[in-house]
Amino acid sequence: MGSVYAIANQKGGVGKTTTAVNLAASVAEAGHGTLLVDLDPQCNATVGVGLAKDTSPNVYDVLAGDLPLAEATAESAIQHLDVVPSTPDLAGANVELPRIAGSETRMKDSLGDVRDRYLFTILDCPPSLGPLTVNALVAADRVLVPVQTEYFALEGLAGLLDTLSLIQRELNPSLTVAGMILTMHDGRTRLAQDVEREVREHFPELVFETVIPRNVRLGEAPSFGLPGIRHAPRSAGSAAYLKLAKEVASRA
Ligand SMILES: Nc1ncnc2c1ncn2[C@@H]1O[C@H](COP(=O)(O)OP(=O)(O)OP(=O)(O)O)[C@@H](O)[C@H]1O
Ligand SMILES: [Mg+2]
Repeated sequence: MGSVYAIANQKGGVGKTTTAVNLAASVAEAGHGTLLVDLDPQCNATVGVGLAKDTSPNVYDVLAGDLPLAEATAESAIQHLDVVPSTPDLAGANVELPRIAGSETRMKDSLGDVRDRYLFTILDCPPSLGPLTVNALVAADRVLVPVQTEYFALEGLAGLLDTLSLIQRELNPSLTVAGMILTMHDGRTRLAQDVEREVREHFPELVFETVIPRNVRLGEAPSFGLPGIRHAPRSAGSAAYLKLAKEVASRA
């Protein structure tokens, strides 16, 4: 049976999409069917795997309309990696979803048994704890939380964990936190080392051993419409994401 991972952190720009795209591509590269669902109106994951921002059909048709998810699924630039693209229109779902009774389960319901066609389904969340992220957390088996290795890294994490407990209690009892991923780590700075130590001390069980370095190749990859691991396979950033994929799979 396939596993569903939500990549969530309400803080913006911490590496959610970079992690979603590269983790999905790492699993696909190993020959396993993988599905990436872009739940962010910014469409960065969509563009990051080679599709246009205004691709139709898309995740908005699934969440706000009643298009079956399988029909919104497109092939990406990467073999074995399918994607449900997003659209800027998805921003409207933040207003529309709360008006529909039981809208928290729309992603879960539409994912249905499509999830079993893939080893991994990865849900890229927007930087908020609004209806789109709630839909992802209700549909997911596990959450991965990217944490930028910068000052203020810990800020907001306690609130995020509280929200996860609330979702577990009220909406998705089987949800577990798979772990936190330290991202954009600059090994040359004292700050990165201090922040890493602090996060590991606070959440000793939760933080993955693999740390994602700050790496120009990862940052530029989306402009080529490719995941970093495909754009620059031999870069330090790619090596880290391939290693992370193994660590995530081994914790499953
Ligand atoms: N390890 C890294 N090294 C260098 N640049 C990175 C790295 N990870 C992410 N970036 C860049 O940092 C920016 C933010 O990353 P990303 O889009 O993955 O974060 P996000 O959490 O998805 O953001 P948002 O909250 O807006 O959705 C992007 O420009 C991305 O290319
Ligand atoms: Mg993002």
